[in-house]
Amino acid sequence: MRIRGIALALLAVSIPAAASTVPLDEPIRPIEPAAVTNPALVELGKKLFFDPRLSKSGFISCNSCHNLSLGGSDNLKTSIGHNWQKGPINSPTVLNSSLNLAQFWDGRAADLQEQAGGPIANPGEMAFTHELAIHVLESIPQYVAEFRKVSGRDQIDIGQVTRAIAAFEETLVTPDSRFDHWLGGDSGALSAEELAGYGVFKEAGCVACHNGPGAGGTSFQRMGVKAPYVTSSPEQGRIEVTGDEFDRMRFKVPTLRNVELTYPYFHDGEAETLAEAVEVMGRLQLGREFTPAETKQVVAFLATLTGTQPSFVLPLLPPSSERTPPPQPFE
Ligand code: HEC
Ligand code: HEC
Repeated sequence: MRIRGIALALLAVSIPAAASTVPLDEPIRPIEPAAVTNPALVELGKKLFFDPRLSKSGFISCNSCHNLSLGGSDNLKTSIGHNWQKGPINSPTVLNSSLNLAQFWDGRAADLQEQAGGPIANPGEMAFTHELAIHVLESIPQYVAEFRKVSGRDQIDIGQVTRAIAAFEETLVTPDSRFDHWLGGDSGALSAEELAGYGVFKEAGCVACHNGPGAGGTSFQRMGVKAPYVTSSPEQGRIEVTGDEFDRMRFKVPTLRNVELTYPYFHDGEAETLAEAVEVMGRLQLGREFTPAETKQVVAFLATLTGTQPSFVLPLLPPSSERTPPPQPFE
């Protein structure tokens, strides 16, 4: 209690009296708005993100599991894939995913472009093949014209598809959260309870892993540092990529940006509420039992990390042609 009091007192001193444009020196950094350098590529990527014809069933798009009306996730414990298959793992948000050091819970894709090829050909997700997806796109004259416009080439290949999707995803950042306003010097942007929550978050040590602009996404860490994480999920994390025993149960630290929207929590989706996730984190990662009041403060702080959600006109997708292979929704 004493230590916390001191930390909060220090925090209070560090709040500037007047608004300034230089962000405060804090472990969480502001999110910058996206700089769009190639609008035509982004527009094409947006269409592909929403196009269910990249799946075998003709029914599942990227947006099915990364619903941009739901904080870029599906709010399901684990996702539903082709043929109503139960997915093995919780769908992370695509919002601010460009800030991650790597993609997927175990970091098996280096970047967004590499990641985007995965779900199309994953039998448990979109269940297609890259060849068939290209075949579909090449049968749609408006897509052929758009790809020619952005690449200068007549042939479509999977690299062009994933590059366009990644360019769109890079625009899915959420600046302007209340926390960012506070970082920018607007000392009135947070309530006393929210500020107290940020104080607990820093003083307890959450920032050791949840830092940077994404408040996460900067490292792989063990789930269960002080005590093992008990779950029925067989997922073992980064050891699947490295084969190194050290990486067993190490996962990419998820971003906490927009976390109030992206329930349920953890790779297995086992924590239904943010309060539960905060309690588990305190206990397992830091050996700390929060009081109900502290948990409430941290949850209040985390809700200030919700930024301006991407907003745009829903893309109109070009119609299929006679040559387009029919979708196969049922086996
Ligand atoms: C059937 C549901 C489903 C579909 C469809 C789907 N995803 Fe995912 N996505 C997931 C799940 C589940 C994960 C986590 C998998 C893992 O980490 O092993 C994921 C991970 C990701 C990530 C990594 C985020 C991070 O923080 O690591 C990105 C980016 C992403 N998907 C983008 C896409 C794109 C682009 C498409 C369309 C081409 C797509 N997804 C289609 C369920 C889906
Ligand atoms: C040692 C590193 C570490 C520390 C310290 C830590 N976390 Fe985490 N955090 C993680 C990892 C790794 C995960 C993902 C665990 C998983 O899914 O199995 C995570 C997940 C979360 C999630 C769920 C996010 C989601 O989208 O599923 C929340 C919320 C969270 N942490 C909050 C906190 C809070 C609050 C604290 C301080 C009490 C904290 N964390 C301390 C590493 C850490």
